[in-house]
Amino acid sequence: MSATATAVNPTGIASIGLHFPALSLPVEELAELRGQDPDKYRVGLGCEEMSICPPDVSVVELATEAARRALSRWGGSKERIGMIAVGTETAVDMSRPLSAWVADRLGLSGAIRSYEVKHACYGGTLAVRQAAEWRLSGAARDQAALVVAADVAMYEEGDPGEPTQGAGGVAMVIDEPRIARIDPVSYPWSEPQFDFWRPVGENYPRVDGPLSLDCYKRAAENCFKAMIGQRDPEVVLRELAAICFHVPFPKMVRKAFYRVGEFLDLNAERIDGFFQEKIYPTMMWNRLCGNAYTASLWISVARALKGLAAGERVAAFSYGSGFGAELMMLEAGPDAAAGAWEQDVETDFRDRERIDARGYSELRESRS
Ligand code: COA
Repeated sequence: MSATATAVNPTGIASIGLHFPALSLPVEELAELRGQDPDKYRVGLGCEEMSICPPDVSVVELATEAARRALSRWGGSKERIGMIAVGTETAVDMSRPLSAWVADRLGLSGAIRSYEVKHACYGGTLAVRQAAEWRLSGAARDQAALVVAADVAMYEEGDPGEPTQGAGGVAMVIDEPRIARIDPVSYPWSEPQFDFWRPVGENYPRVDGPLSLDCYKRAAENCFKAMIGQRDPEVVLRELAAICFHVPFPKMVRKAFYRVGEFLDLNAERIDGFFQEKIYPTMMWNRLCGNAYTASLWISVARALKGLAAGERVAAFSYGSGFGAELMMLEAGPDAAAGAWEQDVETDFRDRERIDARGYSELRESRS
């Protein structure tokens, strides 16, 4: 075996790009349309605004633009991309991977492993892990991976999940850990369940809300338990600069962290303290874009990494219905402090058009 084939590369996130669609709907407008108290959505679920795609925009555009932004910030040559892995649950084809659309639009072809990853909202994290492990194994030689997590979350009109809708894409080049080093060790947990699924040919997901919340909480408890091991949970949590979660809606994260805290024997005041300090701020962008499924955790991670000093650590908990979960650990690199990717969020949120209840109804009508 040659030395180059087994060389282990320093591995992590080298660049980040995000993209959100050009429309948004404040949850108050949806509440009016559905005859609900807006506080159910604002306070009860913790949502503010949802990103909505105009009729001519699909997950392909979201994934491609996020990838284009990540590549333009990366500074490496396209010839070094040896893997394109796209996590999504908004597949546009049952056979052709979404990565082929992205690669086509970005002019990426050649000695590249290109594929789509599906595991509900966990698909993007699996793509990140596969890219990182590919580099850590030495199989990548000096090549980098383009990883994208992108989704459009839409529920049937009037479905209880409708206020949690959202859309967005996050792309990362996995290469030198300029933004964050990815720990080789992670903490997975999975159980086969039907908590949220979308049968072939159906436009909208079927959701067992209470079961999905219960599965999510159990997964979080088991992943954090494995990560903390025999150590003092207070010390472990205190040393983290941020704790990111997959965000179906912010209240779900709060409930899950309470379950983790109780399991770790922390009192309500400590749990609340950790939540306010280390979790709530990471969901700032999520509250303004809604659930973007695979992208949701990575939107939170992007927010958390922005501004961190090199060496600060972040935990990232991924959950995908069905169900599979994984807790990853990241360590900020030298480029985290500058947080260049914040510009994508500022631009897209500033330029998007807010639609009202009527505009939303017309949009749904045109789709159906
Ligand atoms: N003011 C403040 N809060 C209010 C309220 C009001 N006027 N009316 C209701 N609420 C609160 C409820 O008390 C509840 O909070 P709690 O859970 O802390 O008690 C919350 O709002 C939601 O109310 P609920 O009646 O449970 O809503 P619902 O039955 O319409 O369910 C979802 C909505 C979103 C929770 C549910 O459909 C769901 O879980 N959807 C999808 C889950 C998911 O995305 N899973 C997949 C991936 S993890």
